[in-house]
Amino acid sequence: MPSTPASSSSAAGPAAEPPPLLKAENLRVHFATRNGIIRAVNGVDFTVQAGETLGLVGESGSGKTMTSLALLRLVPRPAVIASGRIEFEGRDLMTLSDREMQDVRGKRLAMVFQNPAYSLNPILSIGDQLGEIFAWHEKLGRQQALDRVAELLNLVGITDARARLRQFPHELSGGIKQRVCIARALLCNPTLILADEPTTNLDVTIQSQILELLDELKERLGMSMILVTHDMGVVARMADHIAVMYAGRMCEIADARTIFHDPQHPYTQALLSSLPRVDRRYSETRRERLTAIPGRPPNLAQPPTGCPFHERCPEAEPRCRAFVPQMSEFAPGHTVSCLRRGSPGIPVQ
Ligand SMILES: Nc1ncnc2c1ncn2[C@@H]1O[C@H](COP(=O)(O)OP(=O)(O)OP(=O)(O)O)[C@@H](O)[C@H]1O
Ligand SMILES: [Mg+2]
Repeated sequence: MPSTPASSSSAAGPAAEPPPLLKAENLRVHFATRNGIIRAVNGVDFTVQAGETLGLVGESGSGKTMTSLALLRLVPRPAVIASGRIEFEGRDLMTLSDREMQDVRGKRLAMVFQNPAYSLNPILSIGDQLGEIFAWHEKLGRQQALDRVAELLNLVGITDARARLRQFPHELSGGIKQRVCIARALLCNPTLILADEPTTNLDVTIQSQILELLDELKERLGMSMILVTHDMGVVARMADHIAVMYAGRMCEIADARTIFHDPQHPYTQALLSSLPRVDRRYSETRRERLTAIPGRPPNLAQPPTGCPFHERCPEAEPRCRAFVPQMSEFAPGHTVSCLRRGSPGIPVQ
């Protein structure tokens, strides 16, 4: 199995930097299907520093959700985590028992999903479902747990929190439901929040309120966040670092400024070209590329050989079909997997 030594060393950053809060190495999620293995996450490496927001972007099907679920060890059947090391707060999550992992999920690492309707239990009142989790984790009595839940509902901007405790999910608007989900994620003071398209199903105005809320809470509570989205505009507003995924692999990771002002991977460039408003300077200098990305994301059941982007890449050369580019350092703190940017390639077998 190919390893990606270049990316692991560069992901660690300069020697002076503190160790990352989270470090994923060679993470792989496979679906075993009748037609063979689908490599939904195909050997990705990335880090999250304490206090930062990492934006995880890429088109639909690129593996963003599976990557996030793998961090929680919650990939849905028939998927499995085929390999990987997930170091979080100094522990390798892959070696924890299910019980220990359950503890980490509630207390240290929490997730906010795309569809708040699915993540709330329809037959329990808000007070009961949140209070229960809290009581379970913190071993509190019911009243204390409910007090704490009401406090959290206030914190996420829900007025008349006491009355809300008695309501059921179907009685709440989408925006309020997502606030409840955020409150639930915060119940046990996590150090890292995974937010997977947290606003996709909400009205535009509510979307920006929820994003602002997440950003504010992250600052206020000193958490880190992995924000999964296919919206470059959202990461432009929120992310410190950006990781760009394509077909289950990372193609570029850098700080947000670099991604917007000096993107190197042709896929990152294409993503940005389809969003001219966010970075005017970029779009003005590359007007010829202001088009949607031609072609479609590959079918991972029959992935292209070599660089997974070569079929859609305006710069593709014959070698891009013959070698799989590996993430490597293009500049300090900026990693790219593109043969034309100097990345090493593993020959296709
Ligand atoms: N139930 C499944 N069976 C087989 N393959 C699956 C299944 N669910 C997902 N996959 C594979 O995993 C890949 C990654 O899916 P994932 O949900 O992580 O994408 P995503 O980047 O989150 O997309 P989106 O932006 O649409 O949410 C898909 O392209 C698909 O090939
Ligand atoms: Mg997804």
